[in-house]
Amino acid sequence: SSAPLTRNFCIIAHVDHGKTTLSDRLLEYTSTITKRVMTDQHLDSMDLEKERGITIKMHPVVMNYPAKDGKIYKLHLTDTPGHVDFAYEVSRSLAAVEGALLLIDAAQGVEAQTVANAHLAYAQGLKIIPVINKIDLPSANLELCMKQLEDILTIPAEEAILASGKSGIGIQDILEAVVERIPPPRWTDYATLRALVFDSKYDSYRGVISYIRVFSGTLKAGEMMMLMSTGQKAEVKEVGVFRPGMEKIGHLGPGDVGYIVSNIKSTDEIKIGDTVTHANKAATDMLPGYKEVRPMVYCGLYPLESDDYEKLKVALGKLRLNDSALIYSSESSIALGFGFRCGFLGLLHMEVVQERIRREYDVEIISTYPSVVYKVKKHSGDVIEVDNPINLPDPGSIFDISEPTINASIHLPNEFLGDIMGLIMEKRGSCDQTTTLDGARVMLSCTLPLNEILVDFNDRLKSITRGYGSMDYELGEYRVSDLVRMDILVNQDPVDAFASIVHRSKAEGQGRALCEKLADIIPPQMFKIAVQAAIGGKIIARDNVREMRKDVTSKCYGGDISRKRKLLDKQKEGKKKMKLIGKVSIPPDAFIQVLKTN
Ligand code: GTP
Repeated sequence: SSAPLTRNFCIIAHVDHGKTTLSDRLLEYTSTITKRVMTDQHLDSMDLEKERGITIKMHPVVMNYPAKDGKIYKLHLTDTPGHVDFAYEVSRSLAAVEGALLLIDAAQGVEAQTVANAHLAYAQGLKIIPVINKIDLPSANLELCMKQLEDILTIPAEEAILASGKSGIGIQDILEAVVERIPPPRWTDYATLRALVFDSKYDSYRGVISYIRVFSGTLKAGEMMMLMSTGQKAEVKEVGVFRPGMEKIGHLGPGDVGYIVSNIKSTDEIKIGDTVTHANKAATDMLPGYKEVRPMVYCGLYPLESDDYEKLKVALGKLRLNDSALIYSSESSIALGFGFRCGFLGLLHMEVVQERIRREYDVEIISTYPSVVYKVKKHSGDVIEVDNPINLPDPGSIFDISEPTINASIHLPNEFLGDIMGLIMEKRGSCDQTTTLDGARVMLSCTLPLNEILVDFNDRLKSITRGYGSMDYELGEYRVSDLVRMDILVNQDPVDAFASIVHRSKAEGQGRALCEKLADIIPPQMFKIAVQAAIGGKIIARDNVREMRKDVTSKCYGGDISRKRKLLDKQKEGKKKMKLIGKVSIPPDAFIQVLKTN
């Protein structure tokens, strides 16, 4: 077996700390790719990833490295998704390796995701190699980074490797450290085949391609495999590795990272974190840590033009083939027509899916306010889960409602501490701990309702801290909270798309703001029309739609970007199709404007 000369590692870093650039340099140094074929960023293939600067999906690569000790090592590098929404995927890709390069941007220092990912790596028992990257930058502060390594991550500063992916400094040092410090593959002596599935993709020609890390045993084409979480069996059609393109090989053995193609039809059936074994000689226990992932954030997605409904349906179907965490079902709304209720792992996942629908499938969509999943306990003792405000049962039947919370760690410069504390309070959060990181920065550990960070938390954090603050979170517990359903009525008739579940203390303020906005956007009417917010039967806020006059000036919209213009053009076409709510004819774009400007 080649296992003693195999090393498996990944790179963990905060967004933009240079993971992709460094990975490319490693591939180039080991001649896995030549400079000529290298695009700027070889590992990130999706456009969107590049643009948003977020590595969403993992791509494992195998490299051969002739080390200073005269031996040739097989190095498997697996990429990790950098963002918290994909925390489960991060932890599965960490489970596929024995060590991690922890990148720190020399000019930025340790950030929220650096800490969160380092903790995940420790939890998996990985060897961490700290790399201070971008040392070519004039603003690099090595001393500060070293101190943060020791103080925040408790890693001895002398272990740090100084590097620059851009200038190619420290690349050999990194590869030598991988060989010397990271242990060879673990759990190789288990009696039967055990391989971890850490990602699955759908390819329209070949079907499902799953990325696996073999721990023990070998797997070949033609064999019958079994997925341990479900007992499902399938025939292996091909096994191979990435160099970085797919390359078919004879078998995958202990320590190897590669892909399998089988006769499994959908990514649903082969879940991330599952253990593959042989059907006729099955392992008795699964590799540790498997769990089902469940969507935490829901919203309605509607085509801007009702003609695009079929196109949206096709887009969601295709996206789901590659992303079993995305779920959807059809729904309809009086205000918005026919669309889909969609569930996502978190906010970023939601944004990424919406953006891909717009870009890759060219469907303009509108999304309703996102909602978390509430647990509603009834007087009868039954507990139901509600992800759409309109499904909240009659208030009289409810004993209490619980909402999900998050445990967040927020990094920020000292000077903004007061304002950020204010923001946390406003969002119904509490601060459990404040840790001084160095002379200039602090880390807050706080608990917040997930619902409160859905809309503008991150933007506010960034704007208050002038871009220097960062946040990372993991899901916390459910907690009972004084929550109510707020309806918005136009001329006494509820508008389904605006129903929301809010904390009682915030209902009036939010209700008033929504009424004002809607009253302002609905075109003037012949008669006085009320827009109201109500809890149960009780009106808590009210505004009036303008009455028709001669000198109505047209509304102007702020922030003219091209998407907005396209949106406006499309809406103009749709102007004719009025919606009748409370006997008031309302152009559909009025609802869209309100949802957009929130
Ligand atoms: P995500 O995958 O989006 O998290 O980003 P990343 O960590 O892969 O970072 P990426 O390699 O895309 O680099 C982010 C930015 O930093 C880019 O503008 C790079 O050109 C720049 N960069 C990366 N490495 C270096 C470096 O060593 N020195 C300098 N000066 N800039 C670098």
